[in-house]
Amino acid sequence: MHEIRNTLFVGKKVIVFESLPSTNTWLNQRLQIESLPEGTIVIARNQTEGRGQRGNSWISKPGDSLTMSLLLNPKNLSPSQQFSLSQAISLAIHDLLVYCQIPDPKIKWPNDLMSQEYKIGGVLIENSIRKEALQYSVVGIGLNINQTQFPENLDSATSLKLSSGLEFNTSKVIADLCSFLEKRYLQLHSGKLKEIETEYLSKIYRMSDWHSFEDSSGIFKGRITGVSNSGQIRIEDECGDFRMFSTKEVRYL
Ligand code: BTN
Repeated sequence: MHEIRNTLFVGKKVIVFESLPSTNTWLNQRLQIESLPEGTIVIARNQTEGRGQRGNSWISKPGDSLTMSLLLNPKNLSPSQQFSLSQAISLAIHDLLVYCQIPDPKIKWPNDLMSQEYKIGGVLIENSIRKEALQYSVVGIGLNINQTQFPENLDSATSLKLSSGLEFNTSKVIADLCSFLEKRYLQLHSGKLKEIETEYLSKIYRMSDWHSFEDSSGIFKGRITGVSNSGQIRIEDECGDFRMFSTKEVRYL
């Protein structure tokens, strides 16, 4: 895989590994000994110990899925604005799904990518904060591309191919994704945080509809009404109370 042509800086430096435990871990460790240009992407054809959110693992099929980490230096964002970066990244992947004609693409808060009821991709952002500023962000993206079979415990997973019935060229998907990532990052860079939030909310999975959720005190019916600046989700329950949750505090049923 060579440099990405249709971008200004995302993917101008591409580091590819045949096999690696985790692209996020590799990039985080590498940045301790060497600085790399913003927009560098690290790709593993076979990622053996992929990490997901909430300490979960991320399982991918060599050759049929994308496991990539992108280096960004969002210096104009304060640590309290981290969630805007997360929103911009989710939107970029959503843009790609729309472009690839994936049916009913949605963002499941905070940043799972869905097609219909199935998970098609995930994001793990690791931020380095120094002197109250965002020093750099390692943006890990896992996307199922041509996989048609998943382990039994991943029965709620899908791929670009399974959901659309089309076969995809992985290199082209990566180039298109880099282009969408750069566009959304530039939108963020130009201070359009409110627009990003509004668009993010318009793509949220199960937004406004009544569904079951589970928190530490049990199951309840509620509907998502928004997110806070810090990334908490706001769910209105049947009593009309608004409850705020961080990622580990609530589960979709
Ligand atoms: C999730 O949905 O839980 C997030 C999954 C993120 C997986 C990607 S794959 C590339 C990068 N390297 C990792 O170890 N994880 C992220």
